[in-house]
Amino acid sequence: MTLSGVERLSDLNRLDGFECGKPALDHWHANFARSNQSRGFTRVLVVQDEGQVVGYYGLALSVIEPNAAPRAIRTGRPPDPIPCLLIGQLAVDRRYAGRGIGSALVRDALQRCIAGADFVGGRAVVVRAIDAEAEAYWQSWGFIPARDNPSVLLRSIDDIRAWLAQA
Ligand SMILES: CC(C)(COP(=O)(O)OP(=O)(O)OC[C@H]1O[C@@H](n2cnc3c(N)ncnc32)[C@H](O)[C@@H]1OP(=O)(O)O)[C@@H](O)C(=O)NCCC(=O)NCCS
Repeated sequence: MTLSGVERLSDLNRLDGFECGKPALDHWHANFARSNQSRGFTRVLVVQDEGQVVGYYGLALSVIEPNAAPRAIRTGRPPDPIPCLLIGQLAVDRRYAGRGIGSALVRDALQRCIAGADFVGGRAVVVRAIDAEAEAYWQSWGFIPARDNPSVLLRSIDDIRAWLAQA
């Protein structure tokens, strides 16, 4: 096994055979990761083992309506909608689970979100959890559910920046 660092999905990477245990994420990975990146809908960042993708996430711009945002994010007189950055489709192949790849991907995503927000602004990072297990996962990273939908969770850029500076 020769794991790479976190890097952008390239034409050289192989996407077939990936299984994280959640069919919707496996389907997105096999059918949309490459095309969505080439169309500019999302950036796809991966960890690969000799070319085979074994973990990935998507990064994109997003928004949230002020009424849906948790109080910590709705402070002041926010614009409508509030600009955010989105981490989507985080998944690790089951054969590689529990080795720290998921945590490395999340840290990388949070660092890229801070860098992106430094350039273009952005009040929070938003994630869309695929199920209750994923909601618990994101809460363990300090994300707070939106007021109108528990599967949408947010963490403020200020909070992430302070947390990364300590780590
Ligand atoms: C969640 C996922 C990305 C973790 O990947 P991983 O490489 O196995 O994770 P790591 O090895 O970095 O870390 C495992 C840690 O996450 C914790 N964890 C895993 N799933 C969790 C959950 N649902 N809630 C809370 N913690 C969770 C583990 O307990 C473990 O903690 P420890 O390090 O204290 O022992 C992976 O299990 C996966 O792909 N799941 C299916 C897709 C999914 O649900 N994605 C979530 C976002 S939509």
